[in-house]
Amino acid sequence: MNTDEFRRTGHQVIDWIADYMESGYTGRVSPDTTPGELLKLLPESPPRQGEPAEALLEDFHQLILPRMTHWNDPRFFGYFPCNHSRPGILGDLLSAGLGVNAMSWATSPAATELEIRMMQWLGRIIGLDWPGCIQDTASTATLCALLAARERLNPMNEDGAYGKRRFVCYTSDQAHSSVLKAVRIAGVGGRYLRLIPSDSEFAMRPYALEEAIQQDLQKGLQPGFVTATVGTTSSTGFDPVARLAPICRHHGLWLHVDAAMAGSAAILPEMGWLMEGVDQADSYLFNPHKWLFTNFDCTAFFCRRPRHLKQALAIQPEYLKTRHDAAAENFRDWSLQLGRRFRALKLWFVLRCYGVEGLQQKLRLHLKMARWFAEQVKACPQTSLLLEPRLNTVCFHLDSDERSEALLQSVNQSGQAFLTHTRLNDRYIIRASFGQTHSRVKHAEDLWRLIEERL
Ligand SMILES: Cc1ncc(COP(=O)(O)O)c(C=O)c1O
Repeated sequence: MNTDEFRRTGHQVIDWIADYMESGYTGRVSPDTTPGELLKLLPESPPRQGEPAEALLEDFHQLILPRMTHWNDPRFFGYFPCNHSRPGILGDLLSAGLGVNAMSWATSPAATELEIRMMQWLGRIIGLDWPGCIQDTASTATLCALLAARERLNPMNEDGAYGKRRFVCYTSDQAHSSVLKAVRIAGVGGRYLRLIPSDSEFAMRPYALEEAIQQDLQKGLQPGFVTATVGTTSSTGFDPVARLAPICRHHGLWLHVDAAMAGSAAILPEMGWLMEGVDQADSYLFNPHKWLFTNFDCTAFFCRRPRHLKQALAIQPEYLKTRHDAAAENFRDWSLQLGRRFRALKLWFVLRCYGVEGLQQKLRLHLKMARWFAEQVKACPQTSLLLEPRLNTVCFHLDSDERSEALLQSVNQSGQAFLTHTRLNDRYIIRASFGQTHSRVKHAEDLWRLIEERL
């Protein structure tokens, strides 16, 4: 691809993205395809000769687009959102254009310093005055927090090994699977993970945590790490961080807070309760790639004192040493991987282009949509609300699991909306999560109409 072809195709691609975002995708939200269908249409080997850009774009439209789930379609209400935005896309495009590796300050000074400043900006708007870095995902950030916690309690020896005393982790029975995965990867083992029971609003019970820690101490184990979730995945439950923190402090445990989804709402002054007690934790994460219009991937990871994190993750082979290591931040020391993308650029574009008030306006609309939708669920004799939505996700069900599942399948098969489900209180629960960049009240109304037609 020469410069002319790149320029011409690049303009076409931007035009296409602009239209895609402006008018929405008019086809199905989720594809009508079967496993292996695209594989059959793709050649088994790459072409021997290069192909023109027109052929690539043609195949993108014919082969790829119809088999995509359109996560940023305002009719997508599944999982949690993964929203993007025009400034975020441009920031990401420039990052791809620069093609840098932001592993160390010296490998791209502006990338590191912009990342430091963006974390300070985010901290300022959510009310957290800790250093931080951008990780790819919440899963990675939680694993990093766990490694830092183990290092603080039980530092690795010169051989890179940890002591024999068994390290125990705690989280609620509603925690995201990424916590379970982190425990597995860190070699803690399922036998040393305690799933603390949650209450009727799906929040961790503090006294049950205290009890579990006491039992482990009596067995001679080493209680080490608690993950509290602010906004659980299934139902948006909120672990009471302000009540868990004193327990963790008393026993010397590391408290990590996973606010992957809900954390974006902390930019709203009226949602200040989301941050209650977080200043007493040790690490905190949220995902601007979920609900802050910063295209995937972008996890904001804050660490009150990153010393132990760096002790656990820093490694200094000769070929990575630079003259600036003593004076500058090297984010490779905060990360599992060495190479790092320049993610701060898209975040900078988003924060500057929307401004805090622009972001707040969008989030308030999503909250309003969720409240409106929950009112319809309550008013309808055939649908039941699982619990009042405190944020943007509404959980509801019909009178039997079979009917709930059939409703969800029918909505999704229509291609006109996309919903996902979970299981809570031994029931099949339908979730509708509101949070697309181009959502309007009309989209909530259309979703409700689609549901009503099927009741
Ligand atoms: C509460 C919570 N934590 C963690 C995650 C995992 O996020 P990521 O895909 O960034 O690893 C999710 C995903 O939805 C989540 O809801």
